[in-house]
Amino acid sequence: MGEIEELDFACAPEEDRRGLYEVLATWAVEDSPGKERPPYEACVAMWEFRDDVGFEAAHFAVAREEGKIIGYAEVKVSEAEANAHLANANIVVLPQHRRRGIGTALLRAMPSLLRGRTVIEAWSVFKDSPAEQFAAARGFRVVTTMTRQRLTLTDPPEIGELPAGYELVTWKGAAPEEFVEAYVEALNGIRDAPQGDTTIDLTQNTVESIRREEATAVAVRWVVLLLHEGKAAGVTVVELNSVVPTLAEQLQTVVLPAHRGKGLGRLIKARMLHNLAGVEEIRTRTSSENEHMLRVNHSLGYEDTFIYMAVQAKTADLQP
Ligand SMILES: CC(C)(COP(=O)(O)OP(=O)(O)OC[C@H]1O[C@@H](n2cnc3c(N)ncnc32)[C@H](O)[C@@H]1OP(=O)(O)O)[C@@H](O)C(=O)NCCC(=O)NCCS
Repeated sequence: MGEIEELDFACAPEEDRRGLYEVLATWAVEDSPGKERPPYEACVAMWEFRDDVGFEAAHFAVAREEGKIIGYAEVKVSEAEANAHLANANIVVLPQHRRRGIGTALLRAMPSLLRGRTVIEAWSVFKDSPAEQFAAARGFRVVTTMTRQRLTLTDPPEIGELPAGYELVTWKGAAPEEFVEAYVEALNGIRDAPQGDTTIDLTQNTVESIRREEATAVAVRWVVLLLHEGKAAGVTVVELNSVVPTLAEQLQTVVLPAHRGKGLGRLIKARMLHNLAGVEEIRTRTSSENEHMLRVNHSLGYEDTFIYMAVQAKTADLQP
């Protein structure tokens, strides 16, 4: 088996950065019709910067054979207090080097990348892939199942009539001062969404945390905020891809409880699609149990692309 060592991505030689990319890109197309090799620059951005749920630059351990990277373990942690317990991890081994204990060796090397985090979650375990068995064999349990969806954006759909008392506000980039509190309240409404047993907490946004994120953001976000008599009623957020200008990621959509059942979820998402001139493809992810959101997305033209799972283990329980 190859040797395992930590790799600092920020100062890694180009050959190693490309080596990591090759491992990831090979996995991205594995057994999966419709999946594409991501552009190199998009992977670098994903590893160097905070992701769209607030996890910071990745730390790596790599497996090598004759110097060449054949697998890696990647760990991201969040600076948000609500997620101070959690590490977001990923292990990938090139197909021709599997079932030789390299994945296990990378998992063993992970503790020094965790910086004290007590819970590990991996959010990219595809259904019916070897990772399902690997995760189970190494003591991880499935905490939630997610559906990935994709929309090819042509003409945006009709927005529909806004019921009396409601108002839509939209912006790109930083939230206008007069709406930032309503924005935070609407975002924190995501607490009602089905999320299985994951320990990730996306409901502790504050005006200060939003301002911090905006100040250091790499990717641009569009927001549509729904107000009812001036108060927060719902929100939807889309992040433009910082590398591929024709690609965007649909993030949170929330309609607060008092306003549900009126078609407002679909309405705010449809309104959002009118903001996205130049975007050709939007991707999103939703809990496979979230029938309402999946139905809204289908009605807007989204198609399901694949199912994946999040798995979780306590650092203390990791089986060597
Ligand atoms: C998951 C992955 C990292 C495992 O790497 P690996 O080097 O093959 O793992 P190991 O050799 O250490 O396997 C450890 C144990 O996991 C289980 N396992 C791994 N792959 C398996 C498979 N295809 N079928 C059944 N069991 C499997 C076995 O119990 C294995 O022990 P054994 O070989 O003694 O029976 C690898 O399959 C991979 O890179 N997949 C694509 C990336 C991915 O999906 N990552 C998950 C996101 S975290």
